[in-house]
Amino acid sequence: MNDKPKIEEEIDFKAVAKTPTRWFGLVYLYFFVLIFIGGLYYVNSLEVLNRNATVVALIDSTNLFKDALFTKGNVSPGMDLNLIMNPSADMVSKGESLFKANCASCHGENGMGDGPAGVALNPKPRNFHSKDGWVNGNKFSQMFRTLVTGIQKSGMPAYEYLPAQDRVNLIFYIRNFTKDFPVVDKNEVDQLDKEFSLSKGSINPSQIPVKVAKERLVAETNSTLNKAYKIVDIIESSADANAKIFVSVTKDRLKAATYLASSSVWTNSLNDFIKTVVSNSSTNGFNNRLLSLSKDEWNNLFVYLRGIVTKSV
Ligand code: HEC
Repeated sequence: MNDKPKIEEEIDFKAVAKTPTRWFGLVYLYFFVLIFIGGLYYVNSLEVLNRNATVVALIDSTNLFKDALFTKGNVSPGMDLNLIMNPSADMVSKGESLFKANCASCHGENGMGDGPAGVALNPKPRNFHSKDGWVNGNKFSQMFRTLVTGIQKSGMPAYEYLPAQDRVNLIFYIRNFTKDFPVVDKNEVDQLDKEFSLSKGSINPSQIPVKVAKERLVAETNSTLNKAYKIVDIIESSADANAKIFVSVTKDRLKAATYLASSSVWTNSLNDFIKTVVSNSSTNGFNNRLLSLSKDEWNNLFVYLRGIVTKSV
């Protein structure tokens, strides 16, 4: 409390209050602190402020993430190129059912681009009755390529998994919506044939979505690891002489068990076992004491480990 008068001696607050510049000189530092705190708050809650300010808009289909589809591989048998110049009624009617099943949801039953699934898309699904604004173009060959690759930056999916003949049938069905489509010419058909070997036929491999592939990989890894834990459990709780040998020839039991659980090649024969274990012994969790095992010990260890891995795991 003794300090108080001293401060008043140093700073004459009454005088300061009368001259605003000096008054500001005393407090301006606090403004910086306040602005700094305000800034921190602003940056922290930027996301909330933003969310409140964003108007709900139509989905921009360019932002849709497209994973690969679950597709069974297929063989596209070679097709008769003359039929592309002169499609049969059968092709068109097959195209119609394919269109209703795969495309109408976006492009509409009558190809007007007004299907229910297309309502929220931007850009809108193509109206096949209109000549204007095609991205890849409305020639037969251009539509064929569109079906193979889709249109990356919009919601138009790729249909590369459809057999080539189905793609052709679809296009001929679509071409019936209006008379405006350019005539198919021999050159573009020959060019397509070179690109996609239509007349020779082709094989399309099966594919699964990346997400599923990852899940399967993780599940596989997990199941190997689970097996390895079980193996280690069994060995550690066993009084068997071979269990002791296993412990003595490993520097990392779990790693060694994982190594054994991840492949079954070594279970075929004693030789396979020795080869598998010794060839990678620097990284597979085993140690150099392996090299001093006698033939009998090798054999007993092999039979013992194979028993655990194949029977109880
Ligand atoms: C998920 C909705 C959706 C489905 C399903 C769909 N499309 Fe599309 N399609 C679009 C959109 C969106 C566009 C417009 C793309 C653009 O303008 O960028 C489009 C455009 C096209 C175009 C015009 C390409 C160009 O050059 O402008 C063709 C041809 C086409 N689709 C064929 C098909 C066929 C055939 C099917 C069925 C096998 C199909 N689409 C299924 C959404 C879809």
